[in-house]
Amino acid sequence: MSELPSGVSAAVRAAEANRFEHSCSHATGRLLSAVSASVESGSMLEIGTGCGVGAAWIAEGRRAGVKLVTVDREPLIADVAREVLIDRPDVEVVCADWRSILHLGPFELVFTDVGDAKLAGANDVISATAPRGIIVIDDLRPLDQWPEEWRGQPDEIRDIWLGASGIDAVEVRTARAEAVIVAVKH
Ligand SMILES: C[S@@+](CC[C@H](N)C(=O)[O-])C[C@H]1O[C@@H](n2cnc3c(N)ncnc32)[C@H](O)[C@@H]1O
Repeated sequence: MSELPSGVSAAVRAAEANRFEHSCSHATGRLLSAVSASVESGSMLEIGTGCGVGAAWIAEGRRAGVKLVTVDREPLIADVAREVLIDRPDVEVVCADWRSILHLGPFELVFTDVGDAKLAGANDVISATAPRGIIVIDDLRPLDQWPEEWRGQPDEIRDIWLGASGIDAVEVRTARAEAVIVAVKH
């Protein structure tokens, strides 16, 4: 596995220092970086900043001139991320509820990393995405890795995103125990 980019390492250290355990995995980060590199212009959105690990990966792949907005409702967490991302041009950390900044769209890439946005807010996320824009939803457990007690339980995130109208979505395995959904808006 290749070394982490320095900007990502800084965010990982900040997350560790703040005992923040919800950053995206490196595998998801590498996928975000690759998708980000395909965005030619406009703005991208991360819903749920945490300490800036996901944002650092998106910024890593990003082309010059493409803006990244990332939003977190926790002021202390947003301050940590702002510090981590301070040297990145065109990266804005907003402290707010994610729904309140959707008017800044449409977005060419939306990394959806807040439970409410993956579930009840899915249609709002899709509406805020530009035509041909990409949505990434992380933190899925591959079905063959489900513990016995999960079997037969509702699988709401897959049901919503793999069945939503207005997008084409596919599940992509990023690691033995991790999968993401990647969707493109019609
Ligand atoms: C899974 S973590 C994000 C991790 C980050 N995307 C990364 O990869 O480093 C989810 C974050 O969403 C924030 N959050 C939860 N509900 C929110 C809401 N309604 N609006 C904005 N942020 C929210 C939490 O404070 C938390 O920092």
